[in-house]
Amino acid sequence: MEEEILAAGASVISDRKEARLESYLGSCVGVTIVDKEGGVGGMLHLLLPEPSGADVDFEPDIYATTGVPRFLELLFGRGALKDRAVACIAGGALVGQTFDADPSMDIGGQTAEAVQGCLEKNGIFVEKSETGGLFNRKMVLDLRSLSTTIEPIWQTEDSADANVEKEVNFNIERAIEAVKPIPQVALKIMRMIERDDYTMSEVGKEIRQDQVISGKVLNFCNSAVMGFRDKIDSIDRAVVVLGEKRLLEMVISASVESSFAQSAHGYSLCKGGIYQHALGTAMIAQEIAAFSGKAAKDIAYTAGLLHDIGKIPLDQFMAVNAPLFYRKIQREGIELCEIEKMRFGIDHAQAGKLLGAKWDLPRNLIDVIANHHCPEKSEEDEELVTVVHIADLLMSRFQVRHELDFIDTERLAQRLARIGLSTEQYPVLVDRIPRNIFRTGSSST
Ligand SMILES: [Fe+2]
Ligand SMILES: [Fe+2]
Repeated sequence: MEEEILAAGASVISDRKEARLESYLGSCVGVTIVDKEGGVGGMLHLLLPEPSGADVDFEPDIYATTGVPRFLELLFGRGALKDRAVACIAGGALVGQTFDADPSMDIGGQTAEAVQGCLEKNGIFVEKSETGGLFNRKMVLDLRSLSTTIEPIWQTEDSADANVEKEVNFNIERAIEAVKPIPQVALKIMRMIERDDYTMSEVGKEIRQDQVISGKVLNFCNSAVMGFRDKIDSIDRAVVVLGEKRLLEMVISASVESSFAQSAHGYSLCKGGIYQHALGTAMIAQEIAAFSGKAAKDIAYTAGLLHDIGKIPLDQFMAVNAPLFYRKIQREGIELCEIEKMRFGIDHAQAGKLLGAKWDLPRNLIDVIANHHCPEKSEEDEELVTVVHIADLLMSRFQVRHELDFIDTERLAQRLARIGLSTEQYPVLVDRIPRNIFRTGSSST
């Protein structure tokens, strides 16, 4: 059956047909409204209750207070009647375990409330509402029957497998040895960025020397994530369109992709998921670096891109017991790093530190990789580590896919303060998540 995954800020209205709409929801809120008699219905995927005041392009469908009324108007325009319309609401998970200390952080709850308010005001009956809690949900609208299902994402796993732990023959040295090395060109450029001492002709020379990388960079520039309308067909053109720093990031992103090989059953249940998570975290980290002024944008980007490289050597071993791990994390709230330590004797942060050392990465990047789950342990640049930590959190709460992760939020307020931000600015950070992240990995019918 045809399926369309809705990104945050997307909405679809359709007549009955053999297809379904899906939203993966963490703190975002999904809404379906259908008129079964009229044979029309749709779904919208909201990010925030209302505009946060952040200096970003206004997209009405991102916010409940503007997205829901607009959606209703379009739905009525397609023949739905108010009296027959029925809504379901899902998502709005908490940021983390300890939000109670500060209700302003409960963006998901506020978005769900704003949706309720808009529907009530418009006299739309809410049939089902499953919001709040800690865990991610999947909302599906079957466009044939116009019926909605809401389920925890982990239910997509075979639950029979989730009870038995299978033996794995794991050895960290061998696992790291098996990871494809990072291309030299990426390493050279990372060092140039770190020293902040390079010329574009130097970089251009490096890129052009590597045909594979140049090809990949151009592919990347022309991908949907970048969203350029005109085709970029040469590195020189890419410099003009992207600017120097952005091009460097593209080169690094494109050149590390082949090292991110993964199974489709480990840390991400979607092939390429670890890499997509890396790209998204990089883009958000760059934004937080710029907003807070606490880290250089290009270094934050690279650090975000590499923060989870420790998952690469562990991934295929994780795959053997993924259903069990998913269940432990989702139901029992056991942290990912704890499970990894129990199972492999090492967590992905420490495994990443070893891999980073093997790749001879700059020290500040290894520091981020080793401490991104606990920035206070940073030995090099705590602000940079904190920027990436918060980017990782935003990614895991607002760009949900099939990823296995768990980010501790107990010290979130202190961590925001560490980079000069207050908890009241949290919605602004969410609003500043680059919109092209949401389009990453979405498919359309
Ligand atoms: Fe991580
Ligand atoms: Fe991560």
